[in-house]
Amino acid sequence: MRIGVIGYGYWGPNIVRNFHSQDNCQVTLVADHNPKCEERLKKVFPSVGFTTEENQILNSKDIDAVAVVTPVWTHYELAKRALENGKHVFVEKPFTYSVAQGEELIELADRKNLKIMVDHTFLFTGAVRKIRELVDNGSLGDLYYYDSLRVNLGLLQHDINVIWDLAPHDLSIMDYIIQDNPEAIVATGEKHLNGHEDVAFITLYFPRKIIAHVNVNWLSPVKVRTTLIGGEKKMLVWNDLDTDEKIKVYDKGVAITNRENLHQLLVSYRSGDMWAPQVPQVEALKAELSYFFECITQDSTPLNDGPAGLRVVKMLEAAAQSISKRSEAVLLNGNGRPKQTGWHWHEQRILEHCG
Ligand SMILES: NC(=O)c1ccc[n+]([C@@H]2O[C@H](COP(=O)([O-])OP(=O)(O)OC[C@H]3O[C@@H](n4cnc5c(N)ncnc54)[C@H](O)[C@@H]3O)[C@@H](O)[C@H]2O)c1
Repeated sequence: MRIGVIGYGYWGPNIVRNFHSQDNCQVTLVADHNPKCEERLKKVFPSVGFTTEENQILNSKDIDAVAVVTPVWTHYELAKRALENGKHVFVEKPFTYSVAQGEELIELADRKNLKIMVDHTFLFTGAVRKIRELVDNGSLGDLYYYDSLRVNLGLLQHDINVIWDLAPHDLSIMDYIIQDNPEAIVATGEKHLNGHEDVAFITLYFPRKIIAHVNVNWLSPVKVRTTLIGGEKKMLVWNDLDTDEKIKVYDKGVAITNRENLHQLLVSYRSGDMWAPQVPQVEALKAELSYFFECITQDSTPLNDGPAGLRVVKMLEAAAQSISKRSEAVLLNGNGRPKQTGWHWHEQRILEHCG
């Protein structure tokens, strides 16, 4: 498979390196508007062609698939032109800048019988695969919550806020692990420096009383990548910065044994063993790009296809809508599309909890 990569800034070199390492793929051309990228590319991959003109990739008859590794506001236009020219598309997260753009690309790819894969890199990590296994085999029991802290100092983006930059990781992981669409989203955030929210908090309400929270922050003095997932049977802590014991599963829980009289609740706390399961050490991007090749050659649907990318964009759009309305709850219908906003949804949930 002959690949053209558009965008050779921060993330592009990782895409080129990992495509290059695949037996069946060849990166034939890299395009970036910035001519300085050529020197960086040639130092590592002298045989790969470079151009400042993305049309040379989009119009080329010798390229089968295009990787779009440019800022989010360019994804739609570049992916659309690649699909129109009969090329499969690997596009960075977040898939598009709006739900409408994502829907259009999915329809176009279907019509042309082409694949779209959205770079939800974390879904290919050993840690996320292990967590999904623990959910699927019932080890955690019914899920209660997903709580993620993804904070660091910078890198401030000029075109998007911290939610669009960092939260796609958590939202795609949630989508994969919870395997359901949120019913409502509440978000809040504040702009301190460059006109975009640099600190933000998102709360997502899923069916089955699963609640999720994501804290994303560009102004944190330390880098933290920690997620807690609580279930009825077990709870886990995933520290992605821990090289040896990324996931720790705790046999801890709380059980209410008497519900008849609110004042006579029998609460029992379970505090058993902790274990750290073996997490396969794989380079996620390498596994993901190998899967891209496999999906194209075997004509199978990627788990991180256009609709998966769109579900994340729907959550991002809903979060943006909630922030713009000073943290009103944005309701989503069954397929995750924002429906309406309103405090009454909060009130209803509060009443449910009290009742
Ligand atoms: N999956 C991940 O973990 C991950 C990590 C980082 C970034 N990303 C994503 O990768 C994308 C790029 O991010 P980045 O940090 O590399 O950005 P960046 O600004 O460092 O690089 C983008 C590059 O694209 C080039 N460019 C822009 N428009 C172009 C066009 N039309 N034609 C050719 N070149 C063009 C720019 O000159 C720049 O060199 C974003 O969508 C980002 O969300 C994903």
